[in-house]
Amino acid sequence: MSELHVRWRSQVIAVGSYLPEKILTNAALAATVETTDEWIVERTGIRQRHIAADGEMTSDLATEAAKQALSHAGIPAEAIDMIVVATATPDETFPSVATKVQHKLGMTRGFAFDVQAVCSGFVYALAVADNFIKAGQVTNVLVIGAETFSRLLDWTDRGTCVLFGDGAGAVVLRAEKAQNSKTDRGILATRLHSDGRHHDLLYVDGGPSSTRTVGHLRMKGREVFRHAVTNLTAVVGDTLADSGFMPADIDWIVPHQANRRILEATATKLGMNVDRVIVTVDRHANTSAASVPLALNVAVNDGRIKPGDLLMFEAMGGGFTWGAALVRW
Ligand code: UT7
Repeated sequence: MSELHVRWRSQVIAVGSYLPEKILTNAALAATVETTDEWIVERTGIRQRHIAADGEMTSDLATEAAKQALSHAGIPAEAIDMIVVATATPDETFPSVATKVQHKLGMTRGFAFDVQAVCSGFVYALAVADNFIKAGQVTNVLVIGAETFSRLLDWTDRGTCVLFGDGAGAVVLRAEKAQNSKTDRGILATRLHSDGRHHDLLYVDGGPSSTRTVGHLRMKGREVFRHAVTNLTAVVGDTLADSGFMPADIDWIVPHQANRRILEATATKLGMNVDRVIVTVDRHANTSAASVPLALNVAVNDGRIKPGDLLMFEAMGGGFTWGAALVRW
């Protein structure tokens, strides 16, 4: 049965985001680690990143993004049935960031939990929420991607510390009766993948059950890059095929923002013009699970994404994990 034939459709009714105040430029980084603005811009497209203040936690970023999304949706926190937070940088090992957000929003009803798929986290969280809606179990859902990756970085490793930033983005999903037509608004298809064989290419060398510490991010960048372009192109193609669309039908790709060259190579392999890709990596760097909703928020607010547009969210991260979601705005 085609993914288009469902009773309930998850409509994305609002988006919000939050970026910490402090901006760290490439030039400022070059004063502390052996790198240059030219190298970072040429190899990644990144010019700056936001860094959370001391004491500012992932749940704080997530709560601000959630408040903005709720305000845009015009619904109170009490109307939310479920909160899913995608994060790999929780405030504490437990409880979840999602329950902290629930409390900070003043909610005492519904349920909240985290999803951990690193940079693919937002796409995973969206797929989880979509399936709860399709099952008829919830009506209004907050899906949030929030990270403080600055806390995981080895600031002496120039191969990784220049790449990441902090931030949060959130969407409100609402269950609407599906018309089961290609013009339905909302989430039309999702696809998730993982392959644990690639652990050593991108991981954090610490954790409660291994080292009892938080650890630092470690990455073999060149190999991750190669896998990213191959996997992302395949998952976008499969997600389109699931729902009977073609690459030419996509108005905007809203990708995970790891590296401008990955975004351009993926679009080119799909036969799409790079002008159709929303790029925020220059301002936000790689914010892991937060990058897709942060990019979505930028392009909705500047008027590029309009009601009825067909959007493709796609992401790849540690695990490896990867996935895509086809959404009519
Ligand atoms: O979000 C999860 C997914 N993550 C990603 O998708 C990241 C994927 N990978 C990448 O974005 C790129 O591979 C990087 C940006 C990490 C690296 O770019 P690259 O073109 O693959 O460079 P490289 O790792 O092959 O390194 C090229 C050279 C090396 O020097 P030698 O060995 O050729 O002498 C590095 O030591 O660049 C050097 N280098 C740097 N030089 C200046 C590495 N980092 C830096 C730096 N500044 N920050």
